Amino acid sequence: MANEQQGGPKTAVAPAQGKLGVMVVGLGAVATTFIAGVEAVRRGIAKPIGSLTQMGTIRLGKRTDNKSPLIREFVPLAKLDDLVFTGWDIFEDNVYESAAHAKVLDKDLVEQLKPYLETIKPLPAVFDQYYVKRLHGTHVKKGKNKRDLADQVRADIQAFKKTVDRVVMIWCGSTEIFLEPTAVHQSIEAFEKGLEANDIGIAPSQIYAYAALSEGVPFANGAPNLTVDLPVMIELSKKNAAPICGKDFKTGQTFMKTVLAPAFKARLLGVSGWYSTNILGNRDGEVLDDPESFKTKEESKLGSLEYIFQPELYPDLYANIFHKVRINYYPPRGDNKEGWDNIDIFGWLGYPMQIKVDFLCRDSILAAPIALDLVLFLDLAKRSTELRSIGIQEWLSFYLKSPQTREGLYPEHDLFIQSMKLKNTLRHIMGADLITHLGLEYYD
Ligand SMILES: NC(=O)c1ccc[n+]([C@@H]2O[C@H](COP(=O)([O-])OP(=O)(O)OC[C@H]3O[C@@H](n4cnc5c(N)ncnc54)[C@H](O)[C@@H]3O)[C@@H](O)[C@H]2O)c1
Repeated sequence: MANEQQGGPKTAVAPAQGKLGVMVVGLGAVATTFIAGVEAVRRGIAKPIGSLTQMGTIRLGKRTDNKSPLIREFVPLAKLDDLVFTGWDIFEDNVYESAAHAKVLDKDLVEQLKPYLETIKPLPAVFDQYYVKRLHGTHVKKGKNKRDLADQVRADIQAFKKTVDRVVMIWCGSTEIFLEPTAVHQSIEAFEKGLEANDIGIAPSQIYAYAALSEGVPFANGAPNLTVDLPVMIELSKKNAAPICGKDFKTGQTFMKTVLAPAFKARLLGVSGWYSTNILGNRDGEVLDDPESFKTKEESKLGSLEYIFQPELYPDLYANIFHKVRINYYPPRGDNKEGWDNIDIFGWLGYPMQIKVDFLCRDSILAAPIALDLVLFLDLAKRSTELRSIGIQEWLSFYLKSPQTREGLYPEHDLFIQSMKLKNTLRHIMGADLITHLGLEYYD
């Protein structure tokens, strides 16, 4: 579909025809809340609250034009009725059983959706306990080496592709141990040799991502693992026109941080300390109780403030922030996380003040609409001639604790810059005028 609205460039976005297959890695709390939620919305028994693709609008033209269509009416997105789900897990539970186990959604709702949810049964997973110490997988693929396992995932994708029109993959699996890039991640060739040689630097999440990108399938990463933020994956993404974006759903505490920190910076209020702690009782909390998985999460959670505050530009305000993040596994709360922030700020002449935030949130309720939006927007990117060829979709930073950028570019963490970037990207690919918020023309 060529778009020729006045002003912007002419780009092409193919229509969202047919079924969109969604392959979910890890059918736990987030994934089942996402899938059950989509089904509940399809049946008209609940609303997709928190989802920009479903409820958000986008302003076009001048404020005086009064033109703000729904995003899903402005850009060609797959319809919820056209989503078809499948996935992998290391346990055999179907999505109904797993949703019941996760206890995020009310029993009544899960029972109502049972006939549909129990049809989604996980494929055997690629798993190795070395990378997630607290889990013991029973429903796992066997192979002679990591190459063989990647080929099996590719075969799963190829089989699913025969039943749908397009495919997107999203990692909703557990957080893997902290890994750093090594020589094996520097090129496709090195990575493929590493697969043959069972290189220890190649975690299961990377095997799924490699399989997806090799098949031209976009990949989103909901967890903080080292997965697509690697030269090999960027190369594959570009080569096969399979869009990728950053990692780790920005849901609770980091979402709040990337709202509050830009406000302090905009008003030039200094910060001397930011202490964040969480209690969480679901399986994710249990996995993160392992120091090696926690380190992966910690790195992802710590990154945002440094970039937002730019201490090199504002040494008097932000050069000496004591920033600490803790996650404590506390079973009685289940999926209902409580996140406390104590923020020590200072104002005029250096006088200190404090802010306390106590966010009693529901982890998976916040994450599910993000999973939905990422899937729909990655599928859109794949259908846009301009976006699919660039690999990294920086405009999706809005949803992620660790945005991904081209080498040498610092990431934007400020939620409002991210939101503007996202909407302007949509305007751009549809050939509409960008909105700069300058507004002088109203006073001509
Ligand atoms: N809920 C949130 O607000 C939020 C925010 C950011 C990130 N996350 C991340 O999202 C991920 C999912 O969270 P959750 O609460 O659903 O956790 P969960 O423990 O309920 O679900 C994870 C699922 O992944 C499965 N799994 C683990 N390794 C796998 C593999 N190699 N292949 C296939 N399946 C595998 C597990 O068996 C489990 O069913 C976690 O990594 C979490 O840190 C969640």
